[in-house]
Amino acid sequence: MPKELSTPQPALPRHIAIIMDGNGRWAKKRLLPRSAGHGAGMKRMISLCDHAFSRGIRVMTLFALSTENLSRPKEELEALFGLFREYFRSNLSKLREKGIALRVIGDLSLVPEDIRTLARGGEEATKDGKTGTLVLAIAYGARADILSAVNRAVEGGRPVGEEEFSALLGTAGLPAPDLLIRTGKEKRISNFLLWELAYTELYFSDKMFPAFTNRDLDRALDDFAGRERRFGKV
Ligand code: IPE
Ligand code: IPE
Ligand code: MG
Repeated sequence: MPKELSTPQPALPRHIAIIMDGNGRWAKKRLLPRSAGHGAGMKRMISLCDHAFSRGIRVMTLFALSTENLSRPKEELEALFGLFREYFRSNLSKLREKGIALRVIGDLSLVPEDIRTLARGGEEATKDGKTGTLVLAIAYGARADILSAVNRAVEGGRPVGEEEFSALLGTAGLPAPDLLIRTGKEKRISNFLLWELAYTELYFSDKMFPAFTNRDLDRALDDFAGRERRFGKV
């Protein structure tokens, strides 16, 4: 039997990336402040991660704040920073118990110093986790990440290949995402993981992120299981 017929496509993605969009519109529709949407989104994020890891997903990469989001009104940013603080303070022991290693990517020099400290402390506290990896993208922009990798490669003074270049990115050492989910109805990448998404399967949901349930994640996984990934081959 030809090799390609004897090796079935893995039905479960190893790595899921999520653009968690729609918190503000979810809140607006309920006549709530945008911060309430972000709070509801944070709760949903925690539950979705539990669900995904319990289903055997190995890596979850979640877009929590883009570099471009940093120019949002101060009040909204403060609400988001408050939620990040709360997340790092309340979830580390649970991540440790479950064997989940936390990793934070993005330019943390752009966020308040205490968040940077909490994030680095959270990585350190969970670094022995072997069950899975939770990657939070905070103050992250793919172009900035690629540019910083290019500059480091140039400093090295010699050409680098794809693998070596990947190791200079924030996502160094992680497999590329198999599945990207974007909630919130928009169909765009918004400067997320531009290098890593080259052959990722894309899934768009019209649901706003706080309304995207664990069952909705299961539906995305079912959809993924039916995809045929060819990676340019026939
Ligand atoms: C995503 O929700 C969360 C962040 C970008 C921080 P939005 O805040 O973008 O919500 P919408 O898109 O305005 O509804
Ligand atoms: C993408 O959502 C960023 C995050 C979800 C963190 P945005 O709301 O910032 O994206 P655009 O502005 O609709 O492209
Ligand atoms: Mg948005």
